[in-house]
Amino acid sequence: MTSKRKDVGQNPVRSGIKSGVLNAPLGEEVSARVPGAARSVLIDLNAGDGAIRDELPWEKGPSSGLMAHHARFERSEREILAILIEISEDTFSRLAENLAAHLPEMECWKQLEETRDHVTWEVPGWPRRTLIAWNADSLEFPVRWFIRPDDSVFLNHDPNSPEDWSMRPGLIGEITRILTWPRVRSLTTFIPAAGMLKGGLSRERREIWADRITDLENTLPPQQDMGLFRINGDSSQCSYLLTAPGGWVDKTEKSVQRAFNRYERSFRKAWLRQDPEGFRELKDQGIYWKKELGS
Ligand SMILES: C[S@@+](CC[C@H](N)C(=O)[O-])C[C@H]1O[C@@H](n2cnc3c(N)ncnc32)[C@H](O)[C@@H]1O
Repeated sequence: MTSKRKDVGQNPVRSGIKSGVLNAPLGEEVSARVPGAARSVLIDLNAGDGAIRDELPWEKGPSSGLMAHHARFERSEREILAILIEISEDTFSRLAENLAAHLPEMECWKQLEETRDHVTWEVPGWPRRTLIAWNADSLEFPVRWFIRPDDSVFLNHDPNSPEDWSMRPGLIGEITRILTWPRVRSLTTFIPAAGMLKGGLSRERREIWADRITDLENTLPPQQDMGLFRINGDSSQCSYLLTAPGGWVDKTEKSVQRAFNRYERSFRKAWLRQDPEGFRELKDQGIYWKKELGS
C-alpha cells in the first residue's frame, strides 16, 4: 500500500530539507573535513533578500544566513570568504538591510564598507573571515578574480525559474583550472514542477531545465561527478543537483541523507558517472509527464 503523506510542497518540509542540504556541506567546507585547503570560499549565486522564512532562525533559513553562520566559524584555522550575489537592485537592497539587521546579532561581524553595488563585512582578527554581498549578475560575475590555487570552493545555485538559471556553463571547469586540487563542489536546487496540476510549468519551460542540466553534464570536468536527488512525495518534484570531485561522492551523499533524515523523508538519486542511464531516467521523470515520455 502506498502511504498518503501530505505533499511536501504544501508545508515547510521542502524549505527545511533545502536548508539542510545546504547546511551540511557548508559546515564541512569550513571545518577540517575538507583537508589541505588554506581558504574556504563560499559563493551564493542567488542570494535573494535574506529574509527569515518558515520560522527557521536566520542562520538556519535563507542561504545568506547559513553562509554568514558558517563563515564566522571560529575553530577553523583557515580563512573564509563568503560571496553573496543578487541580480535585482531591490532585492539586493533588502539583502543589505537584512545583513545589517542580523549580522550584528552574531556579535562578531563588523561592517567594513558599503557602496551602491556591494557591502563588505568582516570578523576582525586572524584568520580572516569576510562576507561580501554584490548587486551583480552571477552569469557574468568574474569569479576567477576571487579564487586562489589553494582554495576550496562551494557554489550555491538556487534559481527561482528555468529562465533564472545563474550558473554559466563551464563555471566549475573555470574554477577547477585555477585550483591546485579540484576542490570545488556545487549545489543546485530546482523545481521542475512537472507533476503539479496547478502552477505546473509548460513543457517548453521545463525543457529549459533539461537543457541547462545537459549543459552542466557536457562541461563538467572529468574529475567531477554529479548527483541528482529528488524528494519522494513532492508533486513539484523538488530536486537537488550536487557536483563534487569523484572522491567526495560518498561524503556528499551522506550529508544529503542527513538532511532528509531530519524530516523523515526519502529520496531517489543517481550519479552521472556511476549510473548514466539511471541519471537520465531520473532527470526525465522529474521534467516530463509520463505521457510525454511515452510519446
Ligand atoms: C530562489 S531566490 C534565492 C533564495 C535564497 N537562495 C534563499 O535561500 O533565501 C532566487 C534569487 O536569484 C536572483 N537571481 C536570478 N538570476 C540571477 C542572476 N543571474 N544572478 C544573480 N542573482 C540572480 C533572483 O533575483 C532571486 O532573488
